[in-house]
Amino acid sequence: MSKTVYVGMSADLIHPGHLNVLARAAELGRVTIGLLTDSAIASYKRLPYMTYDQRKTVVEAIKGVDRVVPQQTLDYVPNLKQYKPDFVVHGDDWRVGVQKKVRQSVIDTLAKWGGKLVEVPYTEGISSTQLKAAMAEIGTTPDVRLNSLRRLIAVKPLVRLLDTHNGLCGLIIENLKLDTDDGLREFDGMWASSLTDATAKGKPDIEAVDLTSRMSVLHHVLEVTTKPIVFDGDTGGKPEHFVFTVRTLERLGISAVIIEDKVGLKKNSLFGTDVAQTQCGIEEFCDKIRAGKRRQATRGFMIIARIESLILGKSNEDALQRAEAYLGAGADGIMIHSRQNTPDEIFRFCDAYAAFENRKPLVVVPSSYSQVHEEELIRRGVNVVIYANQLLRSAYPAMVETAKTILQHRCAAAAEDRMIPIKEVIELIPGGK
Ligand code: SPV
Ligand code: MG
Repeated sequence: MSKTVYVGMSADLIHPGHLNVLARAAELGRVTIGLLTDSAIASYKRLPYMTYDQRKTVVEAIKGVDRVVPQQTLDYVPNLKQYKPDFVVHGDDWRVGVQKKVRQSVIDTLAKWGGKLVEVPYTEGISSTQLKAAMAEIGTTPDVRLNSLRRLIAVKPLVRLLDTHNGLCGLIIENLKLDTDDGLREFDGMWASSLTDATAKGKPDIEAVDLTSRMSVLHHVLEVTTKPIVFDGDTGGKPEHFVFTVRTLERLGISAVIIEDKVGLKKNSLFGTDVAQTQCGIEEFCDKIRAGKRRQATRGFMIIARIESLILGKSNEDALQRAEAYLGAGADGIMIHSRQNTPDEIFRFCDAYAAFENRKPLVVVPSSYSQVHEEELIRRGVNVVIYANQLLRSAYPAMVETAKTILQHRCAAAAEDRMIPIKEVIELIPGGK
């Protein structure tokens, strides 16, 4: 009887390195591909370009592949225990980096039935990482970017967004990666906050920054990033105006707009009841959602309804009643907001919302209850967390401090050690040289 061989792979961008591994595998026996699912891949790096089914179609057509099975985790062990292969074949590049631990567990598991790990020398000159870097340089398309938020929500336990109000924030969110024991950790996308956009312009957060101006910031961000963007649409304005906003955002490849159920002069939610703010009637707000959904041109764009009941001192029941009505009107998700300094009222809402039959993705913004941990949000069924203003709030005191130091010393030298060196700042943005 011929031997059995297991090869785990993502197979998003197939290149000669993969074919070398597969050729070696086929020499050893009948080849089963453990194709990593989208969530397995998203657990340690960015979403694959192709969906699982598309990648499966490609891999099944490769010479020497006998069958393709899903591998649900980065960890091979569950599949190895199920299929008990004689060999696992892999490129030798995983001896270092995030996959080192995975490799060791493969060796240990195979040893239980006398199986062996066979490593194929790394194919020089080509790798998925290089191909991905080349693709990132080409950028993305509005369509791919727009749809990526829904894909992320489907495969990640929690989608993590950070505020952006200029191209520089966009670059940080796009490129920052933290190497952790669970793989690379990064932000999944951006929140185009009305508060930080207005503040950066020296304006109050009262919808005084017009849409054209908001769009021009989006253009800067879009130009230097590929990750999904959720647009803070404030109240959405009049339904007759909101429908134009929806189409504009779709054309740009924005994934979602969040509109809040307020009427009249909107003030920032974190003022709560300290200022006069009026919540919109349920039916009136449902009409706005319906108008937006009717006008939407793409399938993937999301209109998310933001409930201000808790902000305005109303009950959890009021918030839940609104959630039900807004979902009924076609909202693609709910954002529940709070200005308490603990997550208790948010959790009460989450627990009741989890029981909804027509449940759609849930978004929260832990600004005032910032001590809440992502693991806790996951346990409560939250799908998207927005860190809405932290970049701006950290930049502002740093700028004030530097300005003070210069005033104090009548000379800039004393501020030098708090600043990025000139050489680094001129090289920060590629293409300046
Ligand atoms: C924003 O970031 O603009 C928001 C969130 O809408 S909050 O400031 O908390 O209202
Ligand atoms: Mg806002």
